[in-house]
Amino acid sequence: MITENDLKVLYDREAIQSVIKKLGEVLNSSYGDDELYIICVLKGAVMFMTDLAKHLKMPLRMEFIRLSSYGSGFTSGGKVNAVDISLPDLNDKNVLIVEDIIDTGHTAKFLMDFIRHNFKTKSLKFCSLLDKKVKREVEIDPDYYGFETEDKFLVGYGLDYDGYYRNLPYIGYIIT
Ligand code: IMP
Ligand code: MG
Repeated sequence: MITENDLKVLYDREAIQSVIKKLGEVLNSSYGDDELYIICVLKGAVMFMTDLAKHLKMPLRMEFIRLSSYGSGFTSGGKVNAVDISLPDLNDKNVLIVEDIIDTGHTAKFLMDFIRHNFKTKSLKFCSLLDKKVKREVEIDPDYYGFETEDKFLVGYGLDYDGYYRNLPYIGYIIT
């Protein structure tokens, strides 16, 4: 069993929820009453997207997309695989991609390019809970983010190591 003692907690439940509430307020004022499609990048963003969505007040549609760039290690492969991309018609829609973390930026860039290539959206923005800016390999910045974080492999609140830890309500790194 994994406990908080095995991890150094960086962002506890309260810190995460308060940053998400603030992000929700920013999004509510940015989009107003305009309809929004949020696209959750599975599996990592699932906790973030469901908590964020509860704060959103505009007419909202939730879509899911599954990609992978990590194997089961600590480092980003830089190669993005499309595992399941089935999206509705996003032409002329406001689209917000919701991610857990931007690391090298390859995943975010792949997704932005994929949507731009397939649809002429009304707007396309990117919202990531975490931004590991120091690790960036391609030029991309989230339009909205919760925490700028250090160069550590993080787990919890959707983020996994080899599929584990996603269920933790806090984010931290494993003490070895
Ligand atoms: P990128 O393509 O290198 O920006 O990596 C993005 C994806 O890698 C994210 O969507 C995560 O799923 C995963 N990832 C990046 N950093 C971490 C981390 O510190 N812990 C767990 N997963 C991570
Ligand atoms: Mg992810």
